[in-house]
Amino acid sequence: MTTTRVEIINDFLAINVTPGKTIQDVVEASGSALPFGCRDGECGTCVVMIESGMEFMSPINEKEKAVLKMVGETSAKARLACQMKVVEHNGLVRIKY
Ligand code: FES
Repeated sequence: MTTTRVEIINDFLAINVTPGKTIQDVVEASGSALPFGCRDGECGTCVVMIESGMEFMSPINEKEKAVLKMVGETSAKARLACQMKVVEHNGLVRIKY
């Protein structure tokens, strides 16, 4: 099975990810220091910026929309790491937190 490469810029990490995994799964397996709180799309602790590769990720869901609004995050790059999944193969996604 092919993968998509996820780079976590802050931590100088690059991980090959099988589509279907959330960025939370990736982060927790990688040693990244990206913080989580609720892990359920409620608190906003895990807000990240997708610097490139949004097209390889799941569409933004209702929880993400609500939390990003709650924390006043208006950037089109902003997502919640506990909610979004890698959905496409052979991609490159670059994430900053
Ligand atoms: S950890 Fe709470 S919204 Fe992602």
